[in-house]
Amino acid sequence: MGILSRIGIALDSDLLKQFDRSIGRQGYTNRSEAFRDLIRDRLVTEETAAPDATVVGTVTLIYDHHAHGVTEKLTELQHAHHELVVSTSHAHLDHESCLEVLIVHGKSVHVEQFAGRLISLKGVQHGRLVMTVPAHSLDHHVKNGHPQNHKH
Ligand code: NI
Repeated sequence: MGILSRIGIALDSDLLKQFDRSIGRQGYTNRSEAFRDLIRDRLVTEETAAPDATVVGTVTLIYDHHAHGVTEKLTELQHAHHELVVSTSHAHLDHESCLEVLIVHGKSVHVEQFAGRLISLKGVQHGRLVMTVPAHSLDHHVKNGHPQNHKH
C-alpha cells in the first residue's frame, strides 16, 4: 500500500444515502472501504479487459449430464486447453444437474475464448466467467505512482 491520501468528494445527498443503504446491506461498516473496493473493481475490470493481461478466474457451469455428449465435450475442451486450467471442482446437484467450477489462469484473451467455448456448448444451461488479478498487479498501471511499491 502507498501513502494514504485523503480526498473530499461532493455528492448529491440522495445518492449518498442510497450508497450508504446499499453498502450497509452488503455488510460494509466503513464507507472508505466501500469506496476503495469500488475503485479496485474498476481497475481490475480495466486490467482484465487488456487481451495480453495475465489473469486468474473461475468458470462456473451448470449442465445436464444426460445431454448428449456434453460431459465428453467438456472434458475434451479442458484437456485441449490444460495449460489454462488450474483445477476443477464438480458437484452432482440432483439426478440431472451438474455444477462445475474451473479455476483458470492465463492471458485474458485465451481465458475468455476458452470460457466462451465451454459456456456455449450444447447442453450447458448457464455459465459465467469471472476474471480478476491480485491487487499488486495493478501497480504498474499507476503511471505517476510510487515506484518503490512496484512488485514486479
Ligand atoms: Ni455431476
